[in-house]
Amino acid sequence: MSLIRLVYASESRLVDANRRAELDRILTSARRFNDQNDITGFLLATEKAFAQVLEGSRDNVAETYGRIVMDPRHTAFRVLSEEPIVARSFAGWAMGIAERDETTSFIFGLYGVTPEADLHAQPLEILIDLAGELAGRPI
Ligand SMILES: Cc1cc2nc3c(=O)[nH]c(=O)nc-3n(C[C@H](O)[C@H](O)[C@H](O)COP(=O)(O)O)c2cc1C
Repeated sequence: MSLIRLVYASESRLVDANRRAELDRILTSARRFNDQNDITGFLLATEKAFAQVLEGSRDNVAETYGRIVMDPRHTAFRVLSEEPIVARSFAGWAMGIAERDETTSFIFGLYGVTPEADLHAQPLEILIDLAGELAGRPI
């Protein structure tokens, strides 16, 4: 089966008071859907933005992304890449996640991701490298 990888960034509309609970909800439903659709990937989340890698068949990635952009919990989408891949980078992750918090802000900062230059302002390579680094760590 031919695989593609889609990477997008968006602006978060989550508010501080319920961010944690809402992220948990997003992740639970994402993992359930992705399991069924053989989608793998990784979600980066900060106070202001999201960036997500989706891997799978072209049809399944398109269908999933179509649902994701309808979600009012984020806005201002920017697709950074949609291209064929030979192998998954996030095999085993129905959806991994790394949130910028006290323990991870140092790593986000190493990649130049700061509140002033947040995820939605970053180029593809930075997001892929940061997601790969964070996926390799125990979370
Ligand atoms: C930042 C973010 C990432 C998401 N990632 C996924 C995902 O990887 N897979 C997925 O099925 N849904 C994902 N969702 C959730 C979908 O937007 C949607 O809520 C879910 O698929 C349920 O769809 P439904 O409300 O039409 O039943 C994400 C939502 C947000 C806000």
